[in-house]
Amino acid sequence: DDTLGSAAAAKGRYFGTAVAANHLGESAYTGTLDREFTAVTPENEMKWDATEPTRNTFTFSAADQIAGHAQSKGMKLRGHTLVWHSQLPSWVSGLGASDLRTAMNNHITQVMQHYKGKIYAWDVVNEAFQDGTSGARRSSPFQDKLGNGFIEEAFRTARAVDPDAKLCYNDYNTDGINAKSNAVYTMVKDFKSRGVPIDCVGFQSHFNSASPVPSDYQANLQRFADLGVDVQITELDIEGSGTAQADNYANVVKACLAVTRCTGITVWGITDKYSWRASGTPLLFDSNYAAKPAYTAVLTTL
Ligand code: XIL
Repeated sequence: DDTLGSAAAAKGRYFGTAVAANHLGESAYTGTLDREFTAVTPENEMKWDATEPTRNTFTFSAADQIAGHAQSKGMKLRGHTLVWHSQLPSWVSGLGASDLRTAMNNHITQVMQHYKGKIYAWDVVNEAFQDGTSGARRSSPFQDKLGNGFIEEAFRTARAVDPDAKLCYNDYNTDGINAKSNAVYTMVKDFKSRGVPIDCVGFQSHFNSASPVPSDYQANLQRFADLGVDVQITELDIEGSGTAQADNYANVVKACLAVTRCTGITVWGITDKYSWRASGTPLLFDSNYAAKPAYTAVLTTL
C-alpha cells in the first residue's frame, strides 16, 4: 500500500487530517489530501464562533465546503466541536444559566441536524478538564454556570439528534496516564455505568519536547478501550524533524495498531506550511508538500 489511507485501511483504520476550507482551492493541498487521506476534520469551520456567531443565526458555508469535499471523495468526516470554552462567541459567555442551557442544547441540535447522517464521529465536548494534578474541571461558562452535569446533558442531547454518529469526548494532555486522563477515565466509566451515551474518546496528541509521546500511551488508550468505547487519535502533530520526529510518529502508529478499538488517526494538518504550531515543523509533509521521514515512518509502520 502506497498511501497513508490505503495502508491504514488494510489495518481496518482510517487515516485523517484536519482541513481548512480556505486552502481547498490550492491544487497541491487538495491533491495531497485526496491522494493520502480517508478522513477529514474541519480545523475551525464547525466551531461555535464559525457556525453560530450570533444567537440562532447559523452559518455553515465553510464547513459545508469541507463536508461536500469529504463526501464526494468517500472520506469519513469528524465533527469538531460542539461544546468548548474556546472559539466561543462572547454572546454565549454572557448568558445566564437558564439561557445558556437552552443555547447549548439548541447549538448541538441545529449543528448536528444540519450534518445528520454525514458524520462519523462528533467531538461533543472538547477540553473540559484542567491541566495539572487536580483532576478538576476547567472553568468555562458551561462548567461555571451549569455545573458538572453539562457534559452529560450535551451527550444526551447529541444522541437524540443523530443516533448514528459516534459521540466522543476529546482532550489534550490526556495521552498518557496522569491525573487529567484519570479524571476523564473516571467520567467515562461513570457514563458507561449509568447509560449516559458516549462512544469514543479522542486523544489530541499534540506533542513536542516538553510534552513528548508518553511511554504509557498504548496502555492509556487500552484502558479507555476496555471501558467499552472506541479511541481515536484526533489531532496528532509532533514538533521536531528528521529521525527523531519519524520515530515518535512510528510509536504513535504502533500504539494505535496495538489497540483493537483504536479506530483511526488524524493528523492536525497536511503540510508544515499551514500548521497551527507556528514555531515548528510538526506534520508529515513539508511546506512544499514533499513527504518527510515522518511520512515514511508512518507508512511503513502501518
Ligand atoms: C486550533 C486550530 O488549528 C487553529 O487554526 C485555531 O486558531 C485554534 O484552534 N485543540 C483543538 C483544536 O481541539 O480545535 C485546536 O485547533 C488545537 C487545539
